[in-house]
Order: sequence, then C-alpha cells, then structure tokens
Amino acid sequence: MDVPSPRKKPEELRSHRFFGVDDLRAFGHRSRLKQSGLNTSEFAGKPVIAILNTWSDLIPCHAHFRQRADEVKRGVWQAGGVPVEVPVLGMSETFMKPSAMTYRNFLAMETEEVLRSYPIDGAVLLGGCDKTMPALIMGATMVDIPVIFLPGGPMGRSSWQGEAVASGSDVWRFWAERKAGNLSCEAWGSFEDHITAGPGHCMTMGTASTMTAMIDVLGLSLPGASSIPALHAAHARMAARCGLRIVDLVWEDIRPSRFLTARSFDNAILADMALGGSTNAIVHLLAMAGRAGVPLTLDRFDEISRRTRVLADIKPSGRFVMADFYDAGGLPGLLSRISHLLHLDCPTVAGMSLGESLEGAQVWNEEVIRPWDNPVFGEGGTAILRGNLAPDGAVIKPSAAEAHLLVHRGPAVVFRDLQDIKARIDDPALGLTPDHIIVMQNGGPIGAPGMPESGQLPLPKYLLEQGVRDMVRISDARMSGTSYGACVLHVAPEAAAGGPLALVRDGDWIELDVPGRRLHWDVSEVEAAKRRAEWKAPEPRFSRGYGKLFAEEVTQSNLGCDFRFLHNDGSRTPDPEIH
Ligand code: FES
Repeated sequence: MDVPSPRKKPEELRSHRFFGVDDLRAFGHRSRLKQSGLNTSEFAGKPVIAILNTWSDLIPCHAHFRQRADEVKRGVWQAGGVPVEVPVLGMSETFMKPSAMTYRNFLAMETEEVLRSYPIDGAVLLGGCDKTMPALIMGATMVDIPVIFLPGGPMGRSSWQGEAVASGSDVWRFWAERKAGNLSCEAWGSFEDHITAGPGHCMTMGTASTMTAMIDVLGLSLPGASSIPALHAAHARMAARCGLRIVDLVWEDIRPSRFLTARSFDNAILADMALGGSTNAIVHLLAMAGRAGVPLTLDRFDEISRRTRVLADIKPSGRFVMADFYDAGGLPGLLSRISHLLHLDCPTVAGMSLGESLEGAQVWNEEVIRPWDNPVFGEGGTAILRGNLAPDGAVIKPSAAEAHLLVHRGPAVVFRDLQDIKARIDDPALGLTPDHIIVMQNGGPIGAPGMPESGQLPLPKYLLEQGVRDMVRISDARMSGTSYGACVLHVAPEAAAGGPLALVRDGDWIELDVPGRRLHWDVSEVEAAKRRAEWKAPEPRFSRGYGKLFAEEVTQSNLGCDFRFLHNDGSRTPDPEIH
C-alpha cells in the first residue's frame, strides 16, 4: 500500500495536546502511557487510533471481535500509529429489553463522548449486530474525526434436515408450522440447535446485512467489506487493512463529513432498495442523515424505490443467504448492476471513488444477484404509505409480502399493545378470517417503549391450521429485517403520541393500496373527533433515568427516532473542544 506523504504535522494531531507539549498535564499523560508499557519512541508524534469495540459475551454476533481488534492493531502499528482498544456498549438485538433500539441513541452518545474526551486522532468502529452500526456512525459523525467502520460480517451457512436455514426468516416460518401443529417438540429443539452458525451477524438480508451495506455504500468502510462472512480469512485481512488505512486518513485529515452527503445517502437508499433491505434501514438512515445535517425525508425513499428493482435474491425477499451473496460477487457485484443509477463520484475511505471501487466488479451467479431485466421484485424493496391512518407516513416491505394482500380492504381487529395481542390472538371467539386486518397500538418509540421489532404480528393458531400464512397487519412498531408478511409498520404519529392509530376500533374498515401508496381508515371525521375527545395518553413507562430521557426526547419514526437535542439541523455551531 502506498504511504501518502503526511499532510498534517505531528503537532497538529489532536493527541499532541495530550502528549506533545511541555506542561504538567502532558507529563501526566505521557507517564500514564508508559504505565501501559509503551516507550516514548512508540507513541511520540504518532496518531492515536481508537478501536471502538462493541464486543460482549452477550453479543454472539460479535464473538470474533477480540481477534479482529488485534488484527486492526497489527495494521495500525505497521502504519506508524498507536492503537488503543476502547470497549463501548455492546447492544445485542436478541437479548436487550425492551429493545436494542431503546439504546441505539445511548451508544451514539457514548461514542461521541468517548471520541471527544480522549486523546484520539482517528478510530476504527467495530459493529455488526443491528443497532450498534447506526449508533457508532451517529456518534462519530458529531465529532467528525477520521473513522473507518469495520463491519462484523454475516454468519456462515447453516442447514437443518438437509435444508438451508437462515436466521430470523426461517425461525418465523417454522414457528408458524409449530403453531399450526406441524412440528413436534423434538423437531423444534433440533431446529434450535441448527439455526445459528457461529460468530457473525444474521445471515439474511436483515437489519445487520442491510446496515453494513449502507455504511459501505456511504463510503465509510473499505469497499465491499460488508459482504465478507465473519469467519472468512478475508475478513481478518480486511481488519488489518482498516488499521493500515485509518492512519493514512488521520494524516490526510479525511473525516466523515466528506462522505455523508445528500448524494451518498441517495446511493445508500438505492442499494437498500436493490438489496430488498430491512425496513429498519429507513429509521437508521434518517437518524444518520439527521446527525450529518443532510436533509432526508420518507418521500425520498419512495421516490428512489420506484425507480429501482430488488436484484438480490436473499431471504426474506428471496431464497439465498449472505454467504451465497458474497460468493456471487457481493455488494460490488450488486452495485455494478445499478451503477447507472448511482453517483459514482462519491468518495470512499479507501481513497478511491465509488465508481473506481467498482471497476472489475462482477456477478458470478445470476440466480443470487439477478440481472436488471429479471428482478426479484419490479420496484425497490420498501414502500412508503400515507393516508388518514398515517399522516406522517408508514412503511411496508412489499417484496416480502403475499402479493394478493398488497391491495386489500378489511375490517380491523384491534389490540391495545403487544401483551394484549399475545393474550388474545388465539381466542377463537374473535372469529378472525384471512380478510381481517390485525391492528396493534402502542408499539412505537414512546408507547412500547423503544419501538421493538414486534410488528410482524402473530396470526391466530386456528388460521395457521387452515394454511393461512399471511394477513394484513398494521402497527407503529418495527419488525426484524429478517421478517416477512404484509406488515404495515412505523405508523406515524404513533398511538401513544395521539396518532390516529390510537383511535381505531374493532370493526372499522381499513384500505391498504400499496401501488397507490395509500393507507385509509374508513371513519367519518365526526366519529374520529368524538373518539379523540375520549382518548387518554398512556401512562409513561419510566419515571427516572435513561428511560425517562428517552420517552421525553425521542422523535417519531419518520424523523429517525433520534433525540431532539442531538439532531443536527445545521443551525447549531459545533460545541468547542475543551482541554
Ligand atoms: Fe445480531 Fe441478528 S441478532 S445481527
């Protein structure tokens, strides 16, 4: 690798103020580095590179991160930097309650404050399990020092009873079979033994695979890094390259603000739509753009969705898993198929443009990465709906729904929250038919709280037994990127904030028209006003601490669920560094 001539002088490094001056505080700083066993020659005048590591025993998706941190360190030392590993909050999508989403902004704040307060010149960010990624980028964006994102990489393949199985998507599929009485207890236990395949994030096109790809397209990862399976040797080599490259970025003073622009966000949304990406990407990209001061609205997602196509045949929209995607050419292969739509001049942390990074990109398997004229779905993977039930928008993933439900009118059956639907959904007295529309309230950012992935609402057991596998479902919650079904999500404003969803009652007729992008609640204005007058906001779930802060400051899903005081609308000058 070429070593660029330094453009910064050592005395211009942030860390110089901590280590390079002749005063008592710098003496203290230097003496404490020596306490760590470093000689003066090993750190003097060299960039300090933080490796922000979201490793934790409670995040199996990041089980390889200690080794990857060592590989990053190897690269940093070789390039003449000083690596320092810094643990930050590990957020497990599976284990954190009420939802890892509740803590995304927490990690974003921690990332910002760690990078700002310590003697750090640049950073490699290690993330993979869903919310860790937007959080790390949101925090780093506000400090705006050079960073590279190291994506955790997907799990390898797994199979059960001779059939390839994939995280999330096949769990929901086989759970429906179990509820329908088609899967024994023993078979279910055996499936549990086989559904995961070691370290790495979910191997479907869930939120993790989607967000690693988004950050890659935004230019903040080494190009193509996001598709490399977690335990592939190429992943370890990529980690070392991140360490090498970040030192160059510090000397060249190349910061996230160079990459996060309206054009790069358009590229990311295009890729999201062509991948059939997770609906969660919308919330996270809105929040990330909000930190970067880039104006972005739900409407932009829909505009872009209408002019692209789903080309990645990956679960839950398709048939394959991420290891197949990597073998087929990975993200560079997919981007080469939509290059006519991309802003190819956008930069990447590798020092080349996006277009240059795609030179030589190929597709090796056209079943996994389809040609433009043979798509998985004829539009992008996500559609934005509007109407009197969702004045500020709602989201659906039509590529992962049964096509006959995309235009549907039916009577509502309403559940007040997740506990209510769990308690009553299987009650035959409800008399649900496949034409009913299942509505759940209070699953949003404030109401749940934390907008958990409960939006793939359960179907009643008696309909599953009849072979029904999809129905129209509506909520203000999110759903896992690995989920599927005709699930209308992210209804805004949410019920707990007094949105119209709070006023829907059993028997109300609702119309879903995905091609027309319409979600209509068939109720008179007089009746709606009467119900609004009777509505009472639910009691707050938290009376203290972070939960209280979250409920008071979180924005609605159409604005990215960031905290109001952290959103960057460009009107505030950055806070000064205090030394
Ligand atoms: Fe970690 Fe899916 S549970 S990425």
